[in-house]
Amino acid sequence: MNFLMDTANLDSIRYGVEYFPVIGVTTNPTLITREEVPDPAAHIAAIREIIGPDRQLHVQLTETEEEQMLAEAEAIVALTGKNTYLKVPVSPLGLRVTRALSEQGYGVTETAILSVGQAVLASRAGARYVAPYVSRLDNINGRGADVVAQIAEIFDTFDIGTEILAASFKTVQQIVDVGLAGGQNATVNPDLLRQLVSHPLTDSGIAGFAGDWKRQYGERTLLRFLKK
Ligand code: E4P
Repeated sequence: MNFLMDTANLDSIRYGVEYFPVIGVTTNPTLITREEVPDPAAHIAAIREIIGPDRQLHVQLTETEEEQMLAEAEAIVALTGKNTYLKVPVSPLGLRVTRALSEQGYGVTETAILSVGQAVLASRAGARYVAPYVSRLDNINGRGADVVAQIAEIFDTFDIGTEILAASFKTVQQIVDVGLAGGQNATVNPDLLRQLVSHPLTDSGIAGFAGDWKRQYGERTLLRFLKK
């Protein structure tokens, strides 16, 4: 299972790529708007600069007419280079644009996926990734992880190469459930990513090891003994 960061906050992205094994960053118009930057294109370029050329950057189209969507996609990739994925919201027009972009060799992430049917259609249109929104399904008494499991099963049955990039997580358990359901990738906000690595018993365990060592050897670390 791979992890991406679902944020447009530059400090969070710097921290994330420094400490966490993330393979990329996903943004959407809401996340970029939240940063209140005067020039969103410059901000997207800054994200690419921080994550480097080898990590994935998923950028959502904001245009709503076909020709403009294609032009926007081309301009995004011209700005951010390889390993850029164009997030296209699923709809009849979205599927058409997905097909056109994938035929031109662009990587597409079909986003705002809330049903199995949407995911399968997106895969047939040529999407490299589909992004099911787990919390948004859970919040309406659905089960996001079940939708992910069904998508994964159909992709597996028909040997479809499109990968699941599950999104919209609010709890650590949702991430675990999606992994168990066969979701290959999860994009997670920075706070949740930190929670994913935290456990109170881990903290107390580490403190216990340090305390035991110090009682016996004081300030002398193992490295000091090794290097004497
Ligand atoms: C990511 O690609 C999605 O846009 C995002 O995870 C949606 O998350 P939300 O439901 O918290 O807005």
